[in-house]
Amino acid sequence: MLLILNVGKGSKMKYNKLTILLKYVLYLIKASNGRGHGIHSPFVFSFIKKVLNTTTKGDWVNNIENYRAEVLNNKQEIKMVDLGAGAILQTNKTKKISVIARGSLKSKKYSTLLNRIVAYYRPSNVLEMGTSFGITTCYLAQAMPGGAVVTMEGAPAIAKEALHTFSTLGFSNIQLLEGNFDNSLPLYFNTISTIGLAYVDGNHSYEPTMRYFNLLLNKSNQDSIFIFDDIHWSREMEMAWKEIKEDQRVSLTIDLFYIGIVFLKKENKEKENFIIRF
Ligand SMILES: C[S@@+](CC[C@H](N)C(=O)[O-])C[C@H]1O[C@@H](n2cnc3c(N)ncnc32)[C@H](O)[C@@H]1O
Repeated sequence: MLLILNVGKGSKMKYNKLTILLKYVLYLIKASNGRGHGIHSPFVFSFIKKVLNTTTKGDWVNNIENYRAEVLNNKQEIKMVDLGAGAILQTNKTKKISVIARGSLKSKKYSTLLNRIVAYYRPSNVLEMGTSFGITTCYLAQAMPGGAVVTMEGAPAIAKEALHTFSTLGFSNIQLLEGNFDNSLPLYFNTISTIGLAYVDGNHSYEPTMRYFNLLLNKSNQDSIFIFDDIHWSREMEMAWKEIKEDQRVSLTIDLFYIGIVFLKKENKEKENFIIRF
């Protein structure tokens, strides 16, 4: 019997399906068309042409996707645990790996986009907060052949499955830090001078998101990139995204509905917030 952590997407007042659908329609109406028409920022124009609207193919993608399919069909029951005040507490609830995977893994469309973002901007290091079964981590690591990706997971049983993913798919440039983000983040920060790219995909609520944002900012320079997952998932996440966009240290944001990308580049004299169809 494995143990998993009951934190992440399952809690904290998620919007119902109809509200998310309406928000998505609103996003489509407000968003630029995704082809770059009417976008005057050369930086964002290149992002659209070279990162957003290209495709990622290859045998390595097929390998990861075949492995994702296995995880999505894995009927093994694993025991849930709760994260409370930095401790991992066991409960008696169990859930199938397939069910957890369906509710937590980022889709191929977004995993490949994250791969292209890393490949294009070449950050000095990559951090993923929220490993789950490690599928997206492999996409991040594929774009960092000469560098390491650090990924953090609080549920020991999930972390164990993720390590199996990395070894099965042959990724040796991933370091998994097991434990609560609150403990792992300071440990990781002791090993780097500045953060290159951070993908925040766990603990989707206002207070922790803002806390991680501020901690990441303290370790940033103008080349740092932050990516927040599920920015329209709940009222709390929308509140956090609004504050992040308004923060004076942030110079440019791109809202793709399911993720929000934050740039800190100083050459952007006026803050710009884009909503782009993807
Ligand atoms: C949405 S899933 C990550 C999905 C993954 N990034 C992907 O794209 O496939 C979030 C994960 O973060 C972990 N998590 C949530 N809050 C955490 C915390 N405070 N400390 C450590 N891990 C946490 C959960 O156990 C869960 O596995």
